[in-house]
Parts: sequence; structure tokens; C-alpha cells
Amino acid sequence: MIRFGVIGAGRIAKTFSLAVNGIHETLYAVASRDLEKANQFKDEFGFQKAYGSYEQLLDDQLVDCVYIATPHALHFEQMKSCLEKGKNILCEKSFTLNHEQAKIIYDLAESKKLFVMEAMWTRFLPTMQEVLKLVKDDAIGDIFRIEANFGFETNKDLKDRLLNPVLGGGTLLDIGIYPITLANMFLGIPDSFESNAFFHPSGVDTSSKITYFYPEAEAILNMSFMDNIGNDAYIYGTKGYFHIPNFHAAEVATLYNNNHKVVKMIEHPHIVNGLEYEIIETIQCIKKKALESQIMTHEISLEILRQMDDIRKSWNFKYPQELG
Ligand SMILES: NC(=O)c1ccc[n+]([C@@H]2O[C@H](COP(=O)([O-])OP(=O)(O)OC[C@H]3O[C@@H](n4cnc5c(N)ncnc54)[C@H](OP(=O)(O)O)[C@@H]3O)[C@@H](O)[C@H]2O)c1
Repeated sequence: MIRFGVIGAGRIAKTFSLAVNGIHETLYAVASRDLEKANQFKDEFGFQKAYGSYEQLLDDQLVDCVYIATPHALHFEQMKSCLEKGKNILCEKSFTLNHEQAKIIYDLAESKKLFVMEAMWTRFLPTMQEVLKLVKDDAIGDIFRIEANFGFETNKDLKDRLLNPVLGGGTLLDIGIYPITLANMFLGIPDSFESNAFFHPSGVDTSSKITYFYPEAEAILNMSFMDNIGNDAYIYGTKGYFHIPNFHAAEVATLYNNNHKVVKMIEHPHIVNGLEYEIIETIQCIKKKALESQIMTHEISLEILRQMDDIRKSWNFKYPQELG
């Protein structure tokens, strides 16, 4: 049995708790900065313990793995504290603000022989795994183009983490990471890129376009907090193409030939809400004492952060924590 401790009783912590319960695994402790909120969360999802501070949860010897469900900018310090207390970690995306912070965490985890994984759940979805296998088996020939959008209209105020630079807000780290992940899964590391972005008065990016260039392909990736541009992905190859609606949470994908005729429908409805697959991976890795997942490796996580660092550099955008 792996006992999860959740820090931050916000939106994704609820989805995570539903997923853990849905696969009959163990929600052991939840911590919030507000004890009353932690107690309500505990009762709603059936945790055994509630704590009014994150430190108290880390001091609980029975917590095997901490799920970090707080804003991006807090992950770095919180992961350091978890590792110092001997805890395995499943940390929400974006793992850290930048590559440098992530490298420190992965090095520390390796030296302490603890499991750490970035919670990039899309990589574990059976639909994505099947599309990946079909592409490797030449179902669409050579990929020459990927298009992926992730966008919605948000009217969040400045206090919300999405628009708040101090909390690591902005489209790139919050939702851009999904189309970037897709491009990396199917085409690998790009040779070069072009990008432009619009910024909110708060300073964070509120929409951007990235084009990744490969020797014989390109990936056109759009992300927005301003417009409802949908969440569709298309992967075009010389023999046909895949359409993956709602690709970051994919439950279905369709394979077409070059005459736009359906060749195959892929369907893998979530068991609960889609987070269960990364949770199952985390549990299996910890049980077999693996220090990293072979699907979401440290190297993959570091590489994606390196790419996002480069993109932000091209926009001349730094988080307050990065200003020297
Ligand atoms: N995998 C996914 O599909 C997915 C979806 C959404 C978000 N995420 C990721 O999950 C993380 C949390 O996102 P969320 O949407 O759940 O955020 P959220 O609803 O704003 O919740 C974040 C929680 O972090 C805690 N927190 C600690 N310090 C805070 C501070 N200074 N300001 C605000 N909150 C603070 C709060 O919990 P307490 O008040 O209880 O301490 C808060 O409820 C982000 O890294 C995000 O990228 C992943």
C-alpha cells in the first residue's frame, strides 16, 4: 500500500483525490494552509488525516508519497522540503519554473534515492499510448506536420494563479506544456523554433504561438487564455493522419487515410477522470523502488523545461523569482 499525502486543497487536488479513490488506492493525509479547509477536504474525499500546514504533513512518517497540487512557483521549495523529509513525490506540471530548478530537484532525489515524477498525465493515457504505437508501426507514414491548440477564455482576476507572475502564471507553463509535450512525443526535440506572445498587464503571457522546426516536419502549437481555440490535435503523415480531440485528456482518436476516410477509431474511456494512469505508474514505481518512471523520465521533464526556458528567453520574459 502506498499512502498519499496531498498538499494544497485546490482544484486539481480534488480531481486527483477522485482518481485515487476510483482505483481503490489510499488517500492518507491532506494539508492546507487552512485547517478548516483541510478538514472539509478530508471528509469529502475520505482521507485519514488533515493538517493545517504543509510542514506537518511532511513530518508524518506514514506518508509514502506527496502529491504537490500547488501553483508552479511553489513546487521547487516544496519538493526540496519533501526530499529532505524522505518523501517520494508526484508533482503537478509545470514541475518547476525552469530547467535549473528541476535539475537541482532531480539531482537531490537521485542522491536520496527517492522517486520523483512530473505529473504529465497525458503521456500515460491509453489513447495516447495507442496512437504512439500506431505511429511507430507506420500507420501514417512519416510525420510532416503537427497542429495542436490549447485555449480557453478566462476571466480570472489577478489573484488567481493563472495571471499571477509571482505564482508562475501564464499560458506557457500552464497549458502550453501540453502541445509542447505532444510535439516532443511524436517528433522529438526540435532543431529550432519561432514564437511570439501577447502579455497581460500583470506581466504573464496570455496567448502565444510556437512553431517547432524539424528536418522534415513542423509543429504549430497555439495556446491562449484569451480565446476559446479548443483542444484539438492533428498529426499528419505521408500516408494519413490522426485527429485527437481534447488531446491533453484524450479518450478517443481517429485515424484517417489521405482521402479523409476513417481507417480506425481508438477509444479508451477513462476509468475515473484520466489521472488514474499516472497514479498507477507512481504506485508501481515506488513499490519496485524505481527512482523514475520510464514513460515520464527525469530527462523528458528537464528537456521540456529547457525548451520552455528558451521560448521565454525569446520573449524576454522572466518570472520575478528569476530576476537577479
Ligand atoms: N493535471 C492537470 O490536468 C492539471 C489541471 C489543473 C492544474 N494543474 C496543476 O496543478 C497545480 C495547481 O493548480 P490548481 O488549478 O489546482 O490551482 P488552485 O485551484 O489555485 O489550487 C492551488 C492550491 O495551492 C495552495 N496554495 C499554496 N500557496 C498558495 C498561494 N500562495 N496562492 C494560491 N494557492 C496556494 C492552495 O491550497 P490551500 O489553500 O489548501 O493551502 C490552493 O488551493 C498547478 O501546478 C497546475 O498547473 C494540473
